[in-house]
Amino acid sequence: MSRREQRILDVVMARIALVAAVFCIATVADAAAIDPASGPSRGLEFLLSKAYLPADFDQEVFDDLWTVWEEPLRSLAEGAPIEERRRMAMERYGLTPHPEDPSRTVQYVVDAEGRWVMNCLACHQGQVRGTAIPGLPNSNYALETLTEDVRQVKVQQRKAFSHMDVGSLLLPLGTTNGTTNAVMFGVALMRHRDPDLSIVQRPPRFDLVHHDMDAPAWWHYRRRATLYADGFAPKGHRILMQFLLVKENGPEKFHEWEDDFRAIESWIASLEPPTWTGPLDRGLADQGAGVFAEHCASCHGTYGAGGSYPDRVVPIEEVGTDRVRLDSLTAKERADLTSSWFGHFGEDGQEIRDRTSPTGYVAPPLDGVWATAPYFHNGSVPTLWHVLHPAERPTVWRRTPTGYDDARMGLEVEELADLPPGRLRPSDRRTFFDTRKPGKSAAGHEFPDALTEAEKTAVLEYLKTL
Ligand code: HEC
Ligand code: HEC
Repeated sequence: MSRREQRILDVVMARIALVAAVFCIATVADAAAIDPASGPSRGLEFLLSKAYLPADFDQEVFDDLWTVWEEPLRSLAEGAPIEERRRMAMERYGLTPHPEDPSRTVQYVVDAEGRWVMNCLACHQGQVRGTAIPGLPNSNYALETLTEDVRQVKVQQRKAFSHMDVGSLLLPLGTTNGTTNAVMFGVALMRHRDPDLSIVQRPPRFDLVHHDMDAPAWWHYRRRATLYADGFAPKGHRILMQFLLVKENGPEKFHEWEDDFRAIESWIASLEPPTWTGPLDRGLADQGAGVFAEHCASCHGTYGAGGSYPDRVVPIEEVGTDRVRLDSLTAKERADLTSSWFGHFGEDGQEIRDRTSPTGYVAPPLDGVWATAPYFHNGSVPTLWHVLHPAERPTVWRRTPTGYDDARMGLEVEELADLPPGRLRPSDRRTFFDTRKPGKSAAGHEFPDALTEAEKTAVLEYLKTL
């Protein structure tokens, strides 16, 4: 399909979705009971047990998802016991089992009626080297594929579509597994709000630049002075609530839940980066520390006791990574957010630089960077070795379901010069990262080219220790 045809299709789909949305009645799920525990873990309790969004689907839909899978997966699931089928479903969609009840997942809250409701951990809890880590970006999350499969099963079961089933006709959710169009969800939803978050009907926008982002690690929250790849947003518990802007949540819900999000913010700010537990050559890492101090620390900061982080925005021309994210938001869209209730009507962070027109991307902290593959804001580079070798980055890559590459540090991948020939099913296509697509370039950040091969090897070892 040409880009023009795609745009026309987008407009048509958007119209359909608008009409559907008007007729779609979804109820806000009841909040499950919360233990009145105190301390930062209260925030985690809220995320795991309270439904802040309308329900997505129920257990019966989840347990039937396998019926719409392609062969041979469907036959395998058909012959498997229910526990195994659920495990297969979780693997397909990038969900991690709930530690207390493996029939559920941490990424969805189950409400009093047994309905599944997406929570923040859908994108913000992943697994690495076999361990699930809260705050680690979920590099396996297959939101678009899950939503497509759910819609098909709901048609079979004659069940109503949810806000996500309908919304995904209006906006693409994510064209590569592990990354989502989350930034544009925010822009599209904010369009229907006044600064005090009261709901206003405005015609939808058809000119949004959809693109996929890799979520950042939550343990950086504490280090960062501002939020997001371009650093335009002030920190604060209110801004964390942006994701709840669905029309079912009026301004009163935001006021009611403000305290919950104070707890959620303090939990996020309490998170520590995971420690590398694989092989480590201490002597080599020490050499790497010297190279890092000379070539990388001016942007990425210093680590260990007394470490400091500069929170530097690096101009796009200098960093040279994909610029779609930077260009996709207008100064007005940034200001609409920061001057609304979310940014205390513009009072938050007045002291920090004028962020509505950023010039590039923030050089992120690198604590726990061994765990956060893929790299760059768009998740285009599968390993740290590839970050350090700009000319060797693959054009197309596909990860193994959960493999970790100990040598190159990052996702275990198959590298390809092109997509496989022939027509791919959409669910298959989303398992390939194609760096030639808009918003997905793996170019830029050529700073490591100043290093010799031996220095790169030493820096790679040093990065294990952060
Ligand atoms: C659909 C996926 C998705 C969901 C669900 C989601 N986020 Fe995010 N989140 C992202 C992406 C992608 C970014 C990066 C946006 C950017 O940098 O422009 C992000 C950024 C953030 C950041 C900024 C971190 C930084 O260092 O800049 C915080 C904090 C955050 N999210 C918290 C939350 C909370 C709290 C929730 C639930 C209320 C939530 N997110 C739900 C995808 C998601
Ligand atoms: C001039 C500033 C600058 C220098 C010097 C620099 N970087 Fe970066 N780095 C950035 C920026 C900006 C990004 C974010 C790019 C993006 O996401 O598009 C980044 C991203 C990264 C990432 C990906 C982080 C993630 O979570 O996705 C790694 C790893 C990294 N840099 C390592 C290094 C190393 C190692 C060096 C030294 C050899 C170095 N950088 C030198 C600015 C710099």
